[in-house]
Amino acid sequence: MVSRLIACAIFLAALPAWGGQQQLCLTCHSSHYAERAGCSDCHRGNPLSERKNIAHSGLRAGKYVRFTLGDEVLKRDGEHLMEELACRRCHISAGRGNGLAANLDDAAVRKSVGELVLAIRQPVATMPKFGLDDERIAMLVNIILAGSQGHEMGKAAPAKVHFNNSGNKSEDVFSKKCGSCHRILSERLGALGTGDSGPNLSGLFSPFYPKTYKNGEVWTVRNLDLWLKNPREIRVWARMQPVVLTEKEMKELETTLLVIPISNQGCHQGGKE
Ligand code: HEC
Ligand code: HEC
Ligand code: HEC
Ligand code: HEC
Repeated sequence: MVSRLIACAIFLAALPAWGGQQQLCLTCHSSHYAERAGCSDCHRGNPLSERKNIAHSGLRAGKYVRFTLGDEVLKRDGEHLMEELACRRCHISAGRGNGLAANLDDAAVRKSVGELVLAIRQPVATMPKFGLDDERIAMLVNIILAGSQGHEMGKAAPAKVHFNNSGNKSEDVFSKKCGSCHRILSERLGALGTGDSGPNLSGLFSPFYPKTYKNGEVWTVRNLDLWLKNPREIRVWARMQPVVLTEKEMKELETTLLVIPISNQGCHQGGKE
C-alpha cells in the first residue's frame, strides 16, 4: 500500500507541469508542442482529470487549433475566406464587423467548437447557407478562435435577438419591394425578406459588405439608386429587373439598410476620438 502511494507520488512528480498544473492528459497521450504551451492552452479540456469524459470536456480537436502554431498561410487563407463570404456584414469577429447577429468573439468563449461548426454547417434561417466543406469550416473556426484571443466577455455590445418575420405580412418597403428575392438583418426591424434568388444584402452600405458594385467600388446610397433604376447599366449580365421606388420609399430603404459598423478593437461607442 505504502509502496503504491510512493510509486504514485513519483509518477505524478515525473509529469511535466505547465503553469504549476499537472497535465493528466499525458496518462493517455504522448506529449507534443510542449515547448510552446500546455495541452489545454491549445486544446482546452480539463488537464486535472484522468477520466476521459471529464478530461475531454470542451475539447478542441487538433484541426480547429492549428492557429495556435502561428501558421501565417492558414491565417491569410482563413481571413481571405471570411472576407470573401463577408461574415462581418452581420457578425463582429476580432473586434470588427457589424453587430447585426451574434458577436463571434463572445461565441468563441461561450460555445464549444462543435456548436460553432454546427452553426455554420446548418445555419439559422436568417444566416446564409454557405454549403462549405469540413476543411473550410475548420478554417473559419480557426479564424474565429484566433480572433477571440484576449477577448473579454461582456465588453462588446449585447448580441441582437432576431425574430423571424417571414410569417408576417410586413409593410416595410424592403419586405414589399425586395423581400421576395433578398433577405437582410436590419438594426431597426430585425430579419426581413424571404427570398434567396438574390444575395443577402445585410450591411450593404458598410465596409464589410463585398465591394461588388463595379470595379471594386463599395455600395453607396447613390450607387444603389443607379442600380435599382437599371441593373444592366451596371452589370450587363444582371438578372435583376429595375425596381421603381418613390423618393419616400427610397429614403425608407436607406434607413432600413443602414448599420453602424464596429471597426476598432473593443467598444468605443460614445467616445470622443
Ligand atoms: C483516459 C485517457 C485520456 C485522457 C486522460 C485524455 N485523453 Fe484525449 N483521447 C483519448 C482517447 C482514447 C482518444 C481517441 C478518441 C476518443 O476515444 O475520444 C483521445 C482523443 C483526443 C484528441 C483528438 C480528438 C478528436 O476529436 O480528434 C485530442 C485533441 C485529445 N484527446 C486531447 C486531450 C487533452 C488535451 C487531454 C487533457 C486535457 C486529454 N486528451 C486527456 C484518451 C484520453
Ligand atoms: C501549441 C498548441 C498545442 C499544444 C501545446 C498541444 N497541442 Fe495537440 N495538437 C495541436 C495541433 C495544431 C494539432 C493538429 C495536428 C498538428 O498540426 O500537429 C494537434 C493534434 C493533437 C492530437 C491528434 C488528434 C487531433 O485532434 O488532431 C492529439 C491527441 C493531441 N494534439 C493531444 C495533445 C496533448 C495531450 C497535448 C499536451 C501534451 C497537446 N496536444 C498539446 C496543437 C497543440
Ligand atoms: C446575413 C447575416 C449573416 C451572415 C452573412 C453570417 N451569419 Fe452567422 N449567424 C447569423 C445569425 C442571425 C445567427 C444566429 C444567432 C443570432 O441570431 O445572432 C448566426 C450564428 C452564427 C454562429 C453561432 C453563434 C452563436 O453565438 O451561436 C456562428 C459561429 C456563425 N454564425 C458564423 C458565421 C460565419 C463563419 C459566417 C461567414 C461564413 C457567417 N456566420 C455569416 C447571421 C449571419
Ligand atoms: C425578382 C427578384 C428581385 C427583386 C424583387 C429585387 N432583386 Fe436585387 N437582385 C436580384 C438578383 C437575382 C440579384 C443577383 C445579381 C444579378 O442581378 O445578377 C440581385 C442583386 C442585387 C444587388 C447587387 C448585390 C451584389 O452584391 O451583387 C443589390 C444591391 C440589390 N439586388 C438590391 C435590391 C433592392 C434594394 C431591391 C428592392 C428595392 C431588390 N434588389 C429587389 C433579384 C431581385
